[in-house]
Amino acid sequence: MMSQPLDQEAFSRATPLCPPATYDAIARLLYARTGINLPAGNSSLVVSRLIKHLRLLGLADFDDYLRHISLPENRNDLNVMISALTTNTTRFYREPYHFEIFVEKLLPDLIQRAKGGERIRLWSAGCSTGEEPYSLAATLLHHWPGLVDFDVRILATDISEPALATAQAARYPRERLEAVPQAVRNVMLSETATGDPMVAMPKLLRDLVTVRYLNFVEPWPTRGPFQAIFCRNVAIYMDDRVQLSVWSGLIDLLAPQGLLFIGHSERLPPSQSDRVTLIERTTFRRP
Ligand SMILES: C[S@@+](CC[C@H](N)C(=O)[O-])C[C@H]1O[C@@H](n2cnc3c(N)ncnc32)[C@H](O)[C@@H]1O
Repeated sequence: MMSQPLDQEAFSRATPLCPPATYDAIARLLYARTGINLPAGNSSLVVSRLIKHLRLLGLADFDDYLRHISLPENRNDLNVMISALTTNTTRFYREPYHFEIFVEKLLPDLIQRAKGGERIRLWSAGCSTGEEPYSLAATLLHHWPGLVDFDVRILATDISEPALATAQAARYPRERLEAVPQAVRNVMLSETATGDPMVAMPKLLRDLVTVRYLNFVEPWPTRGPFQAIFCRNVAIYMDDRVQLSVWSGLIDLLAPQGLLFIGHSERLPPSQSDRVTLIERTTFRRP
C-alpha cells in the first residue's frame, strides 16, 4: 500500500497542546490579574480560546506563549489573553425580573430624591458589551421621561477592553433586542430606521451611560454612593476570597436604601448578607 503524502501545512499547523504545568501558570497569571479562577485541568479551554492569538503572534507552543505574555513589554498581549479567557456572555434585559423590581421597588424613591436635589448614580459593574447598562438606561427613560432634567448617570465598567469598546460604540444587531419588552425596545429603536439590521442606541441613552475600565482586583476609581448596583454573573467566576472582597466593596458603595442585584446563580457570603436585606430574588437592600 502506498503511504499518503505528508500534508506539510496541516502538519505545521497542528494545534499545540497546553501541558499541565503551563496551564497552571496561565491560570495563576489570570487569577492574579483578574481574580478569575479557571477550573483545574481544563487545558482544552485555554487552547481553544488562545490558539488564534498564539498563531497571530507567530509562536510555536504554549510555553513560548506563556514566556511572551509574562514579559512586561508585552502587556497589551497579556490584556488580549485576559479578554480571551473571560466570559463576556450577556443579553439585553437578562434576568428581566431585576428590571421589574428596579421599577417597582426603587424608581419612585429615586424620582423623589432627584426632585429633592440628590444626584442619582447607578452602576453596572462587569457590564461586558453594554447590554445591561443600556437595558437599565432604556427602562429608566421609558418610566421616567423627565429624568433628563435631573442629575442621573449610569456607570458601566468592565475589565475587557474589546467589550468596553463595543459598549462605547453602542451599536447592536437588531435581533439582540428581541427579549426587550416592546415599550422599552421602542426607546432603544428611536434613532434607528425601520429595517436597519444594526440598532444604534439613541443619544439620550448614550449620554446617560459612562463606560469605564475597572478591575475588581485593583483599586476602584469610584467613590459612590450608588442607589443601585447591578453586578450579575461576574463574581461567579471568582473564588471565595475575591468574591468576598467584591461583595463587601460593592455594599460599602451602596447608598442607604440602595439595591444590589446579583446573578441568579450567585450567593452573598453570610458576613455580607448580614449587612443587607433580601427583598426579592437575588435583590438586596442596604438599610
Ligand atoms: C458574563 S459577563 C456578565 C455581563 C453582565 N453583567 C450580565 O450579567 O449579562 C462577566 C463580565 O465580567 C467581567 N470581569 C471579569 N473579571 C473582572 C474583574 N476582575 N473586574 C471587572 N470585571 C471583570 C468580564 O470581562 C465580563 O465582561
